[in-house]
Amino acid sequence: MVQDSTANRNGEIMETNKEQKVLEEKKRIEETISQIEHRIAVFSGKGGVGKSTVAVNLAYMLQQESKSVGILDADITGPNVLKMLGINDEAIVINERIIPFEKYDAKIISIASMIKAGQPVIWRGPMRSKMIQQFLADVEWGKLDYLVADLPPGTGDEILTITQQMKPEYAVIVTTPQEVSIIDAERAVNMAKKMEVPFIGIVENMSGFACPHCGKVLNIFGEGGGKTLADNYGVPFLGSIPIDLHTRIYGDHGVPVVLKETESEISDVFRSIASKIEFQSQETMADIV
Ligand SMILES: Nc1ncnc2c1ncn2[C@@H]1O[C@H](COP(=O)(O)OP(=O)(O)OP(=O)(O)O)[C@@H](O)[C@H]1O
Ligand SMILES: [Mg+2]
Repeated sequence: MVQDSTANRNGEIMETNKEQKVLEEKKRIEETISQIEHRIAVFSGKGGVGKSTVAVNLAYMLQQESKSVGILDADITGPNVLKMLGINDEAIVINERIIPFEKYDAKIISIASMIKAGQPVIWRGPMRSKMIQQFLADVEWGKLDYLVADLPPGTGDEILTITQQMKPEYAVIVTTPQEVSIIDAERAVNMAKKMEVPFIGIVENMSGFACPHCGKVLNIFGEGGGKTLADNYGVPFLGSIPIDLHTRIYGDHGVPVVLKETESEISDVFRSIASKIEFQSQETMADIV
């Protein structure tokens, strides 16, 4: 009997400690969020449509406009942001706080800095969510104007965690013009609506390729699907990004194309996307104040 009651007491103490830890983490997440003026989540339904490319270039376009910016790589099983920024270092932890990388004047965190290159992260949903929560609770982000989260494809745990914990005010849904991508993007729009993200905008990526020889535009993945989706849901269409060789090459070499080719069609599109988001973000602030 004595043993039973001791075991019960130990169980209760462990439970209380666990609850205490959860509460403390929640508080740290709230502290992080309170220091970040605007939060953007970039997602799609489908893989490989250019979420990471859009997240990184959008972040650096905002940085070019003198905003302080952070990028949170919330793709735990397929983290690509560090590769796209040429970061090969390991994460640094000081006094239980994770120090984000600083590259081209923005702060970045990704699980890629905590695992060996090429090694898979074989984690179930709750573990992946836990990691994202840690990125919010324990990373020394400091004060930021914008935090941009790059999400994995689909509508799974990572998206739930980001929408519930990071509380983005803006969901940027990336799609190609192709029907299979639009169908998945529609799921993403509905997910953002369900999760009550205040603003949703659609970006159509890989939208047409201008032949370098004759200049003729080939609509390799079709055309106009993103705009139609935006119109159907009554959400803003943020812009069309063409298929662009330099975007791919610079991405592979760790430099966002918007920092390299500041006066190009691609940069113009990202500038316009960023300004539409900034404009709506200001509106949100005006509504809140
Ligand atoms: N507009 C573009 N023009 C040319 N290449 C592009 C463009 N957008 C993306 N890419 C290239 O396509 C590939 C996939 O892009 P990216 O990794 O950004 O997609 P993703 O949606 O994040 O993929 P995942 O679902 O795996 O996270 C990358 O090699 C990237 O450089
Ligand atoms: Mg990606």
